Amino acid sequence: MNKIIIAIDGYSSTGKSTMAKQLAKALDYVYVDTGAMYRAITLFAIESGCIGPAGFKKQALLEALSGIELKFKYNPTLGFSEMFLNGRNVEKDIRTLEVSQYVSQVSVVPEVREKMVALQKVMGENKGLVMDGRDIGTVVFPQAELKIFMTASPDIRATRRYKELLDRGEEISFEEVLENVQARDYIDSHRKVSPLKQAEDAVVIDNSSMNQKEQFERALALAEHKIQKNKKGA
Ligand code: DC
Repeated sequence: MNKIIIAIDGYSSTGKSTMAKQLAKALDYVYVDTGAMYRAITLFAIESGCIGPAGFKKQALLEALSGIELKFKYNPTLGFSEMFLNGRNVEKDIRTLEVSQYVSQVSVVPEVREKMVALQKVMGENKGLVMDGRDIGTVVFPQAELKIFMTASPDIRATRRYKELLDRGEEISFEEVLENVQARDYIDSHRKVSPLKQAEDAVVIDNSSMNQKEQFERALALAEHKIQKNKKGA
């Protein structure tokens, strides 16, 4: 058994998922985007009226929680798994700014995190997994063989996210995107349950001035080194 678990954590819009997808493809591993899971629960909360401009009806969401089904289904054309919420493909609907604006409030709820972490742990039982998120190296897989912590300046991250949203046709200003990035950084790293923090044994990749190819090569070299080490130890 030479396969390992690769945990990739970091701030929003640091390119975690792009890198995680590339790594999973190169290693023939499964890729899991845990942000998509928190986004899907948030979409459910918005659509069911549990969260919105009028506030957050947390109790109503908690009551519905056990009936919410989240599943990843592999799409061979895209080369990665898409998120299904109660049987519906929500891959596009979970990436809107509206979901981004509410997701931090939903993901601080301990019962939501418990449900997500339990599902995520099951996905790692056979190893051969690249998982990205905020608490993967600290809470979900503290025993992961390789932990990467990704960071970049808020301005650079907001610029990337702004471009993505414009490409998707959302009407938005750069300032709104920057505010959202900064607000999420604050909430993600100050919440009581599983705050975003670097695991002590994580390798930091600051990609403020690195291109995708450079970061990918760095991460792949780290992964190959760990896989070799794991083989020797096996
Ligand atoms: O990676 P992302 O931006 O799609 O994640 C969306 C939100 O979900 C993010 O603001 C924080 C939350 N999240 C979390 O709390 N824990 C994770 N493991 C992944 C995401």
